[in-house]
Amino acid sequence: MVLKVAKRGAIPPFIVMDVMRAANEREAQGEEVLHLEVGQPGTSAPKPVLEAAKEALTDDLLGYTDALGIRNLRHRIAQHYQEFYGVRVEADRIVVTTGSSGGFVLAFLSAFEAGDRVALASPGYPAYRNILSAVGIQVMDIETGPDTNFQPTPDLLDQALHGSPEPLDGLIIASPSNPTGTMIHTADFKALIGYCQDKGIRLISDEIYHGITYGRSAETVLAHMNDAIIINSFSKYFSMTGWRLGWMVVPEDLIRSIECLAQNLFISPPTLSQRASIKVFDCRKELDGYVARYAENRSLLLEQLPNAGFDKLASADGAFYIYADIANLTNDSQEFCNRMLAETGVAATPGVDFDPGRGHRYMRFSFAGELAVMAEAVDRLGRWRR
Ligand SMILES: Cc1ncc(COP(=O)(O)O)c(C=O)c1O
Repeated sequence: MVLKVAKRGAIPPFIVMDVMRAANEREAQGEEVLHLEVGQPGTSAPKPVLEAAKEALTDDLLGYTDALGIRNLRHRIAQHYQEFYGVRVEADRIVVTTGSSGGFVLAFLSAFEAGDRVALASPGYPAYRNILSAVGIQVMDIETGPDTNFQPTPDLLDQALHGSPEPLDGLIIASPSNPTGTMIHTADFKALIGYCQDKGIRLISDEIYHGITYGRSAETVLAHMNDAIIINSFSKYFSMTGWRLGWMVVPEDLIRSIECLAQNLFISPPTLSQRASIKVFDCRKELDGYVARYAENRSLLLEQLPNAGFDKLASADGAFYIYADIANLTNDSQEFCNRMLAETGVAATPGVDFDPGRGHRYMRFSFAGELAVMAEAVDRLGRWRR
């Protein structure tokens, strides 16, 4: 008898993970790979975090914690909002999660019914779309381009909704975003918040790249509205990807259902990571030093990629990504990236991961690694393209 395999689990792969696998296989065969595909810092967690982890390993039972996270850590995150943005928030509204990825599952299940409609920018982080579809929520792609800095605007939402009898239930934004690194212009940011308030749309703001910006600082949606869900993580600015820790700031009306979902889905976020991460908020100097290194990488790539034929680049206001329009080079970004890896050893991610409609003519470079790696990569790409 053939057993049923559920359709909702048949979501697309996260292609960057496939690219990473191909790059790792190449490395295992003794070939050198320059990693511009991985969206993670090449640095470890700051020393005080490592020391706190060692201490916790020797003197702590490391059992489960409260489903919403260790009380002290929730307070420390609330204090971070005061220090970083000058915004007050009660620790009761902070939920510690298993990476921001765990936060998305809790956010989507608590805020939306199956069949609801949630809008997001395309190109965008692929897991939003894939998690939403796995839990039966309809995804409405808002196609964005350089004219709006690859970000949604009220006008684009109106155009996408035009003539549709169904309401929009949610909107996900990320500023800076992955894969474009672009930020929402200040005027559009306020306009989007007003739009959601007027129309009763639940706004979810993914603030994972806050702290990594190269001009103006990112503003938190929390400063402007209390019924949005704010998602953040220790993975990027705080350089703690594998610790699998993130947090949410949630509206009062969702706290209890998020607590019940977290109890049942995860029991608690990782205890060792919670014990150690509390120290990371006092490591701003070290963390800002990492951002200064990303800024150097960014300048080098923005200056030199055009010499290699990659000359239509998104603004890269923050995060550690450059999104390139490569329509002048290919109409099949996946084949192009495979060939680029095979012929130059430079790994990067095809745009199809982020934009199912137009990604075949885009690709993403990540500049989270070392400056020397970036320099060698642009050098090889230049020679390859000549
Ligand atoms: C925009 C964005 N959100 C969320 C995540 C997930 O991060 P984590 O689960 O490590 O917090 C990523 C990872 O690359 C990302 O780019």
